[in-house]
Amino acid sequence: MSGPEPGRIRSVAGPKRTLPREAPARPLPPDALALLTAWLPQDDDPDRPVMQLATVDADGAPDVRTVLLSAWSEAGFVFHTDARSRKVQQLTADVRVALVVLHPSGSRQLVARGRAVPAPAEADALAFERRTESQRRLAWLNTLEMAQLPPEQRAAEWAAFAEAHGSDVPPPETWSGRLVQPDRLTFWQADPAGPSHRVEYRLGSSAEAAGGWSMHHLAG
Ligand SMILES: Cc1cc2nc3c(=O)[nH]c(=O)nc-3n(C[C@H](O)[C@H](O)[C@H](O)COP(=O)(O)O)c2cc1C
Repeated sequence: MSGPEPGRIRSVAGPKRTLPREAPARPLPPDALALLTAWLPQDDDPDRPVMQLATVDADGAPDVRTVLLSAWSEAGFVFHTDARSRKVQQLTADVRVALVVLHPSGSRQLVARGRAVPAPAEADALAFERRTESQRRLAWLNTLEMAQLPPEQRAAEWAAFAEAHGSDVPPPETWSGRLVQPDRLTFWQADPAGPSHRVEYRLGSSAEAAGGWSMHHLAG
């Protein structure tokens, strides 16, 4: 696999990861995993779900944006982004996040709260492999410098990259994955025959709960 020619792409040297790679604190409870299996597409499904990811900035103010859910497992939820992005700067200072996955039907909502740690390197490689050609190109070309160019020049750079490399590109150095390890997981379900209902799993709130997770039924 050949990478882009030097000089063609602007600098991709991003900040070094400062967070330790660590194992997930606790695996998800089996019934939450069963719900995720029923609710979310498998990781090899090319139709990736989107989620809204909330972070906290240096002043404690919330921020939010949409990202693709690259993968999920009993360890948590993985997304990928640019190491130079605002969200990565925020996560380097404060690992707390919240995320929402809304089912396209609007009848199901998954909300998770937890901490985002660097994703395992294998997850980074696999997610890039599974991105579409256009999404891979975005990972290389969606830079601050490119954003300053007039539209025609951006389109020309885009086309030139496609012609030179097609989809045969490795991830740029700035390709950066995060694993969200949840400590609270809330499944909201509409019910045409009654009120909507939530099932919530909380980590560490009950000593006797299996694996440290306790389950609660909520209104709303
Ligand atoms: C449907 C959709 C999917 C997106 N997927 C991603 C993604 O997987 N990764 C990403 O970094 N940005 C993605 N974006 C762009 C982000 O929403 C956001 O604009 C960008 O990451 C910059 O965010 P930040 O400045 O808060 O870091 C997506 C946007 C949309 C509308």
